[in-house]
Amino acid sequence: MRANGRRLAEVAAMLRENIKVGVTTRHLDRLAEERVRSMGAHPSFKGYQPPGTPPYPGTLCTSVNAEVIHGIPNDRPLESGDVLSVDMGLHYGGYHADMAFTVVLGEPEPRIAQLLDATRQSLYVGIAQASPGQRIGDIGHSIESTIKPHQLGIVRQFVGHGIGRALHERPSVPNYGKAKTGDLLKPGMCIAIEPMVTLGTWKTKILQDGWTVVTTDSSIAAHFEHTIAITENGPEILTRLDEVDQTMTMDPIIR
Ligand code: MF3
Ligand code: CO
Repeated sequence: MRANGRRLAEVAAMLRENIKVGVTTRHLDRLAEERVRSMGAHPSFKGYQPPGTPPYPGTLCTSVNAEVIHGIPNDRPLESGDVLSVDMGLHYGGYHADMAFTVVLGEPEPRIAQLLDATRQSLYVGIAQASPGQRIGDIGHSIESTIKPHQLGIVRQFVGHGIGRALHERPSVPNYGKAKTGDLLKPGMCIAIEPMVTLGTWKTKILQDGWTVVTTDSSIAAHFEHTIAITENGPEILTRLDEVDQTMTMDPIIR
């Protein structure tokens, strides 16, 4: 899973370099699929089909502006001012990795810059709780406490998850909750922590395509995600390049 995390972080780094005004999300999806397959790996999301939904068509989820998650890559060129969340999963050797990041194209309004900064910061605050002896509720509570002073909406309909041989495993990892409650974290567990945060409401709905999740008030949303291993020495971020966590250092503004 560590090797897969590094593979996926490589794909993310490549994508970050290719996001610019005029590029379509379908183009980004093709680049990602080519890179994943060139590794001998498979895109985890492609063909993924929870009961009652159509199979997911892409390698990436590309969610723009009021789209929170599960946006389907399309042919609309990205424009200045767009807020784009890119979510991706990779399957290799029987195990999955899952990660997401959000960027804005061009100089953002202060409130959008704050949304991106706070959402990313909340991911790292949540990760810091992922040590043996801590509980799932400690993660959610710390994320919620980080977002609260910014008066942003925390999505509740979707949550983080255990990850391993399946993309989604127990336990659920909500981005809200009560400290010292929920499942106990133990060495060897792997989880995906993924705060989804909006400039307005926490309420979301799924569009007619069966996938795209949008805010009910059309407010802009951000999403950051890492796959984490819980080790005796504390949390280990798997979806990073060797020692370098490029999500942490990434400039979320595409200039
Ligand atoms: N990345 C999403 C998650 O973290 C999964 C997307 S659903 C899919 O759970 F169908 F697109 F795979
Ligand atoms: Co996930």
